[in-house]
Amino acid sequence: MKEVPLEDAYRLINHNPLLLCASIHRDRIGVLPVAWYMPLSKYPLEVALAISTTHYTARIITDSRELTMNIPYSAQLDLVMQCGTTHGDDVNKFKKFNIPIGNTKTSKAPYITSCAAYLAGKLMDSRLAMEHEIFKIKITEAYVEDDLFDGRWLIDTNPRARFLHHLGDGKFAIDGEYIDTKK
Ligand SMILES: Cc1cc2nc3c(=O)[nH]c(=O)nc-3n(C[C@H](O)[C@H](O)[C@H](O)COP(=O)(O)O)c2cc1C
Repeated sequence: MKEVPLEDAYRLINHNPLLLCASIHRDRIGVLPVAWYMPLSKYPLEVALAISTTHYTARIITDSRELTMNIPYSAQLDLVMQCGTTHGDDVNKFKKFNIPIGNTKTSKAPYITSCAAYLAGKLMDSRLAMEHEIFKIKITEAYVEDDLFDGRWLIDTNPRARFLHHLGDGKFAIDGEYIDTKK
């Protein structure tokens, strides 16, 4: 994987690919798909995620104040649905679904090594998270698989750089046509 300069990291998520967010606190580890999120500022990159505080992983994020936002390949849709239809209170998803993890540099939160990219970040406002279910995150590092991104996703040359978008109710779209208005 190669590091993405933090000034360019917003381009990993500018088109709102579906995320798998992961976090760890002491003996609890959680992961869940997140479709509802938006960038708030380019640099420093801040992101707002809408995550229900009833979710197991949300509680881990509020306790550890850290998370990773992993971008799964479209071929990982089964994993997305497995993680999105089970709860960490009942099952360790990392063990049950064989999710491989690695260490980030700037947080304790694990990243998913089988995904295309990840951004790691810190929770900025616990009260906003607990009272309004808005997780405001400041990104501290970003990494991507080497052949997928060069300042932008290479969707015109690499079909693996096409990601999932949740339409709702278990229906998805995958990135389509590439258009460059500067050419
Ligand atoms: C495709 C997809 C997208 C989802 N997006 C969100 C989201 O943006 N926010 C949220 O709170 N839950 C979202 N969910 C629901 C949680 O991911 C789901 O309830 C999950 O099982 C919670 O796991 P946990 O309790 O182990 O944390 C989504 C589920 C799916 C399948």
